[in-house]
Amino acid sequence: MNLWRNSSLHPGWPTPIGPLRVAAGVIRLRPIRMRDATQWSRIRLADQPHLEPWEPTAEVDWTVRHAISSWPPVCSGLRAEARKGRMLPYVIELDGQFCGQLTIGNVTHGALRSAWIGYWVSTAVTGAGVATGALALGLDHCFGPVTLHRVEATVRPENAASRAVLAKVGFREEGLLKRYLDVDGAWRDHLLVAMTIEEIEGSVASRLVQRGLAHWS
Ligand code: ACO
Repeated sequence: MNLWRNSSLHPGWPTPIGPLRVAAGVIRLRPIRMRDATQWSRIRLADQPHLEPWEPTAEVDWTVRHAISSWPPVCSGLRAEARKGRMLPYVIELDGQFCGQLTIGNVTHGALRSAWIGYWVSTAVTGAGVATGALALGLDHCFGPVTLHRVEATVRPENAASRAVLAKVGFREEGLLKRYLDVDGAWRDHLLVAMTIEEIEGSVASRLVQRGLAHWS
């Protein structure tokens, strides 16, 4: 009875997603968990220069914010949002190892059936299709089990790597949001990109496979 009530409140959660093979190895998405603290902290601290230019400004210093002890409240906050049906916070695993995060947020059902999607990947594995594969898996999950109609993302125009990822999976640009978000210490313009279920022609991951950018694992 509880299971039914949870799944109707939040379809698609906490279902693991994948696998999909890309150049770097085999990708899976699985729900975040408390024991991700060490890996999360290690990568986020080491990759500060890679991540900080693209992430919302926070009052707390990066080092403090990414200490191992900071993960439990972050993790439980995200999981609470997931239980309320508003988010799907996933870890991106490459060959079974934590290598980034993919988050689906602001999930709205009813007549809107919409959400945003965002991601980051460790510098240790960039440039080998991980974000593209993870995003394709996440989008197929949104349009399948989560039963969404539209998924959107925002990206700084300067973020060439992320724009390449968004383009590869088929996002369409809708416009420029002026001074949209406080990122890296200032109000930054962001491009709004989106996709609706009518545009995916079956499955986003299948399209990557057809183009030779991924393989079924
Ligand atoms: N200029 C142009 N293209 C670039 C550049 C660059 N400077 N750097 C990389 N690329 C291209 C690559 O060539 C590749 O495209 P290709 O396959 O057509 O050659 C593409 O960017 C990267 O594709 P993937 O390998 O799938 O992506 P990767 O696993 O390297 O992850 C990501 C990309 C997520 C942007 C990573 O660099 C990262 O975590 N950056 C920091 C955090 C971030 O920017 N997150 C995204 C915020 S926006 C959002 O979430 C919607």
